[in-house]
Amino acid sequence: MSIKKIAILFSGRGSNLLSLLEKLHHKSFNGVKIEVALTISNKKDAGGIIHSRSFGIEPIIIEHKNFSSRQEFDMELVKVIQAKNIDLTILAGFMRILTPVFTTKIKAINLHPSLLPLFKGSNAIEDSYKSDMLVGGVSVHYVSEELDGGKLIAQEAFNKDNMSLEEFEKKIHEIEHDILPRSVIELLCKQK
Ligand code: GRF
Repeated sequence: MSIKKIAILFSGRGSNLLSLLEKLHHKSFNGVKIEVALTISNKKDAGGIIHSRSFGIEPIIIEHKNFSSRQEFDMELVKVIQAKNIDLTILAGFMRILTPVFTTKIKAINLHPSLLPLFKGSNAIEDSYKSDMLVGGVSVHYVSEELDGGKLIAQEAFNKDNMSLEEFEKKIHEIEHDILPRSVIELLCKQK
């Protein structure tokens, strides 16, 4: 049995953090045991903090506003992640643009609520809902210095039909809560 340590970074309500904790923490898949060894929030009032604590993991708060540059903030993230010997870092609703200080040192994946390369950025749900496309979807990709631009790992699409924006958003989150843990398991089992 090999043990793989993951770090989860989040900024907001943390529903994806919760789904990762519920589905992966201390669970084994094909000879690989996954441990959420670190959670980090850049917001001290992020809703996800409570989810992390409910699993006995005290999140590390690194507030970006206390750093004078993106690079200095990234340097602190790298230091904390490297100190824990993390195998894979997951951005689950982590709303910061990362510089090469981070992307060249940390193997990380990100979740994005659209079918990349379409609808990059923080307004992806509304942008893809309002577009002429017949489908919406979710992507998981490696983190690179280009925002929402790294190599794709997994995607899932669904028909918009006549969904309201609320229904569309609900469907996106439903898929996210499944595709992200699945992608993590696949990647860690391949690394074995
Ligand atoms: C998700 O929709 C994710 O794709 C986007 O931010 C949202 C985070 O939601 N990047 P939550 O904090 O995990 O509930």
